Amino acid sequence: MKIASVVGARPNFIKLAPLSKEIRKHFDEIIIHTGQHYDYEMDRVFFEQLRIPEPDYHLGVGSGTHGYQTGEMVKRIEKVLMDEKPDLVIVYGDTNTTLAGALASVKLHIPLAHVEAGLRCYDKRIPEEINRVLTDHCSDLLFCPTERAVENLKKEGITEGVYLTGDVMVDAVKQNITIAERVSTVLNDLNVKPKDYYLVTVHRAENTDNMNRLRNIVDALCEVNGNVIFPCHPRTEKALKKFGLWDKLKRNVNVIKPVGYLDMLVLEKNAKKIITDSGGVQKEAYIFKVPCITLRDRTEWIETVEDGWNILVGANKDMIINAIDDFKPKGKTYTHKFGDGKASEKIMKILLKALL
Ligand code: UD1
Ligand code: UDP
Repeated sequence: MKIASVVGARPNFIKLAPLSKEIRKHFDEIIIHTGQHYDYEMDRVFFEQLRIPEPDYHLGVGSGTHGYQTGEMVKRIEKVLMDEKPDLVIVYGDTNTTLAGALASVKLHIPLAHVEAGLRCYDKRIPEEINRVLTDHCSDLLFCPTERAVENLKKEGITEGVYLTGDVMVDAVKQNITIAERVSTVLNDLNVKPKDYYLVTVHRAENTDNMNRLRNIVDALCEVNGNVIFPCHPRTEKALKKFGLWDKLKRNVNVIKPVGYLDMLVLEKNAKKIITDSGGVQKEAYIFKVPCITLRDRTEWIETVEDGWNILVGANKDMIINAIDDFKPKGKTYTHKFGDGKASEKIMKILLKALL
């Protein structure tokens, strides 16, 4: 039995890592890398640190408009699938790579599994939302990280092949935090002490492609009293330079290249607060019980807000500053909404039943 995993962007690699280990205990796996991300810090570093096997196919699609990028991926993935004839394709998360893998396999009538199914923020202007909805509607096996994800699918009439497994990103954190704490020197390198800095990531299109929103975020970060560490996504660096915000940000904030996963875990765990628009980083903040300030108007990880660890502030300068100064987790509820770190094992049991 052969399983093809389709990945291409940073969060896809992190989700693949724990599941690939399980898959290889029982099945042949081929990894198809679309090439959506390609800089060393966005791509190879994750294969090295998470010991993900080398991709069998590297499709080299690279950057471009949504239509170009997704279309090229579909064409190139289709060719590999026609040659390899896998018994199942697995796609991860909500990137253009995820959607392309889903379209290529469903059109070839190859069974499709979606890891991180059922997430919704109910805003179709967000590119990831379209990717989630379409991928779920193409999938035969839908692995949901939360109860709410299962409910979301039910509302859209998807009830067959739906499994509540927990979140593979919890698996990745649990498998790597001890290693990270042993090998990472990032706090020393950046000359910061635990709980004495804020950690920032920004890369979502709704913030980087809108000058006003990005300016508000930069203005707020520049007023922070204290250390701010900002591993900067290449998309954001380009946008900051285009809008003339780069120099101001660099003067006030410690802007660094994107960091590898192990350094990121250490930076997250030891941050005083995390300020982000990333999906994965919101969840990791919750896992580490670090207060999170989310630079978005909606989130698909609403459980983190309900439990009081996350606050949505959009790109409103005053709300960002107030949250940095005052936001405290309300009542500190913590309901382990994302599972126990055994999601990959649960997924594997389901795959064994479904395929063998
Ligand atoms: C993509 C995903 C997003 C995910 C993010 C994770 C889609 C629609 N978006 O967004 O859901 O949260 O990955 O990081 O799939 N670039 C580089 N080097 C790279 C990669 C990108 O310079 O290695 C630059 C290019 O200018 C590119 C831009 O970043 O045009 C955006 O890259 P792209 O992959 O299209 O989207 P992301 O913003 O990374
Ligand atoms: N991440 C990382 N280095 C960074 C920024 C993020 O390793 O400099 C990790 C982060 O810990 C999380 C994942 O990348 O596991 C989240 O990916 P990203 O924020 O790019 O995308 P999203 O989750 O928003 O789709």
